[in-house]
Amino acid sequence: MPATRRFSQDQIDAAAALLRAGGLVAFPTETVYGLGADATDDLAVARIYQAKGRPSFNPLIAHVPDVAKAREIAVFSPEAEALAAAFWPGALTLVLPLRTDAQISKLVTAGLDTVALRVPQHPLAQQLLSAVGRPVAAPSANPSGRISPTAPDHVLAGLDGAIDGVVLGGACPVGLESTIVGLAPAPTLLRPGGVATGDIEEVIGIGLSTPGAEITAPGQLASHYAPGAPLRMNATEPRAGEVYLGFGPGAATVNLSPSGDLVEAAANLFGHLHKLDQMGAPIAVAPVPETGLGQAINDRLRRAAAPRT
Ligand code: TXA
Ligand code: MG
Repeated sequence: MPATRRFSQDQIDAAAALLRAGGLVAFPTETVYGLGADATDDLAVARIYQAKGRPSFNPLIAHVPDVAKAREIAVFSPEAEALAAAFWPGALTLVLPLRTDAQISKLVTAGLDTVALRVPQHPLAQQLLSAVGRPVAAPSANPSGRISPTAPDHVLAGLDGAIDGVVLGGACPVGLESTIVGLAPAPTLLRPGGVATGDIEEVIGIGLSTPGAEITAPGQLASHYAPGAPLRMNATEPRAGEVYLGFGPGAATVNLSPSGDLVEAAANLFGHLHKLDQMGAPIAVAPVPETGLGQAINDRLRRAAAPRT
């Protein structure tokens, strides 16, 4: 990959063009710097995981410039509308039911039927999102397991050379990730963050429940994608009656990547599993190497293969 481009504040249109072309561009929000990718582009979103070295496909937050754009992606209850009116733009993320007609990569939602949405307030984030004209998926712009970046230097310390660009926007005023509230359906605090819990409770008029032990790691459990039919991993060929999810050259019902490219495979994973699931037959999956993004792919496949509870 060519060197990471530095975009000054008057080069937002160039940064937006890079995002629209499938690039990875870090940008400031009032909470932390996000590592952005076109949320409608499977391959671009897959590259986020590659650049961060993320071991599993946690669902990502989709960023949009205003609530009207958010309503194109998720179903808004009256409570969701009230929270959006009170805190957007700002440091609040809402997890809402995904619209069936939403234009969004399944890699953003990790195949779930909910989606995390945020309208950031930072003026450069606002300009960038408006210029991109598509939702932008963005986790914090740091390598997995490192602390979140609140200045361009932090972003470059971790990801210089691994991403296509960074918008130089100075320090983040909030410096702490957004508060995440789930509303599918009961108001639940999924992650404390930049907006105080009490302020949120005041708007909805009731206390937020905190997730029980079973969902203390929202990304982990929420990303548990289970097809209706049983799934068998490390299958070098299908047995009678099975559909076959291939990887690398050879015959398959559908192939994650005929050339054996793990980034392409990650981009295709959730879409292909859905396709096979709709065929209703047991699913056999070709071996996928445990290297690079293969680790995350196998993590997701193991969850899908695990005995149903
Ligand atoms: O302030 C922020 O929120 C920053 C800036 C860049 O916007 N972003 C951020 O993203 O912190 P990330 O990926 O580090 O955290 C997103 C969290 C994860 O814990 C993920 O599990 C959760 O959001 N999440 C996303 N979609 C979800 C869903 N459908 N259900 C439950 N949790 C979800
Ligand atoms: Mg993070």
